[in-house]
Amino acid sequence: MRDHPLVLHVLGARPNFVKAAPVVKGLAALGVRQGIIHTGQHYDALMSDVFFADLGLPEPIANLGVGSGTHARQTAALLTGLEDLVLEHRPALVVVYGDVNSTLAAILVCAKLGVPTAHVEAGLRSFDRGMPEEVNRIVTDALSDLLFATSPDALSHLANEGVAPAKVHLVGNPMIDSLFAALPSLDPAPVQERLGITGRYAVATLHRPANVDDPQAARELVDAVLGVAEQVPVIVPLHPRGRQRLAEAGLVDRDGLRIVDPLGYVDFLSLVRGAALVVTDSGGVQEETTMLGVPCLTVRPNTERPITVTHGTNRLVTPAALPAAASKALADGAATPSGELPPLWDGAAGPRIARVIDAWLRGDNLSPAAKGQAR
Ligand code: UD1
Ligand code: UDP
Repeated sequence: MRDHPLVLHVLGARPNFVKAAPVVKGLAALGVRQGIIHTGQHYDALMSDVFFADLGLPEPIANLGVGSGTHARQTAALLTGLEDLVLEHRPALVVVYGDVNSTLAAILVCAKLGVPTAHVEAGLRSFDRGMPEEVNRIVTDALSDLLFATSPDALSHLANEGVAPAKVHLVGNPMIDSLFAALPSLDPAPVQERLGITGRYAVATLHRPANVDDPQAARELVDAVLGVAEQVPVIVPLHPRGRQRLAEAGLVDRDGLRIVDPLGYVDFLSLVRGAALVVTDSGGVQEETTMLGVPCLTVRPNTERPITVTHGTNRLVTPAALPAAASKALADGAATPSGELPPLWDGAAGPRIARVIDAWLRGDNLSPAAKGQAR
């Protein structure tokens, strides 16, 4: 087995774990030698460990423990830590996910070391470079050797940026694979009972810097959420990033509003499955509500996932428009424009990605360094 080429997955933040699980499973089914490097970007048990347990991810072979910091400090720690690990393990391919700082750092390290890379969730664009994630997406796609796209719009973005079409594979959405796999265990009743919820309710998640870092923006957002809470009880499993600023802006337990710790993957999606409405600024939650058919109001001026609007239950709203949009969504229920899920959101993206990677590992396009190891 030691002679077989090694695939390393670099994971750091909550959404990475959800996207990687089906790819890891798919590669395991093909007998590919692989390992997970956890960067430690997310480290609280409820932001990390619970996902490994809920998704059945294998233990990481290393945890860099980089923790939190400014973009530069966190990325610097990621770069030096990942360089050491990549040199130690000499992978044939490094797989990165989504658009977080751990993704960017892994791509930069591998590009400089000449180690081939694959990007899962390539080509998404919000066209808003004020979002740290947009910078990470552009750099990651420019440097990746294999690009796995979750929706057709990604293909044209990549083509417009000069990425060779031969590197790009439209494979569907592994985050939706994880959701399909979890579906039989998504029972709203136990988590509703634990949180004391009876009747209709909404779920809100808020953590985008543009919404929660600036006190004025946070106040506008909290006022908007309070406008929803006047209509229907709102449960907020709160990301650690926004906790203090949003609390200062008035997002605290009160009539109609319940603030709780982040929930584990199965608990969270169980709660969402039973919700009348979701309010969010998350990327992944826009996709999951589309698949579950739950109305979703995304409090952002743009989305890198427009397919959740054209094919799903998602609507973009300003904070000022949120209470009225919530009232309409609660009255209308979920409206999916096309009545169909986006193409290839069928629970089989992980195996598709695994097949492409396996064929690539067997093919003749390994780098000289990896070739030496592959034999
Ligand atoms: C990161 C990603 C974002 C993604 C989000 C998923 C970047 C630039 N951003 O944002 O794209 O949507 O993860 O959740 O990579 N913290 C804790 N415990 C933890 C992790 C974080 O308390 O386990 C707190 C720290 O105060 C930290 C803050 O959250 O400073 C932000 O964490 P960080 O990983 O830098 O960015 P996120 O906002 O989580
Ligand atoms: N999620 C979770 N518990 C929560 C909130 C979110 O398990 O309390 C899951 C959610 O179902 C999705 C992922 O975390 O699978 C999305 O992560 P997040 O919103 O933090 O990041 P983004 O998708 O915005 O990058």
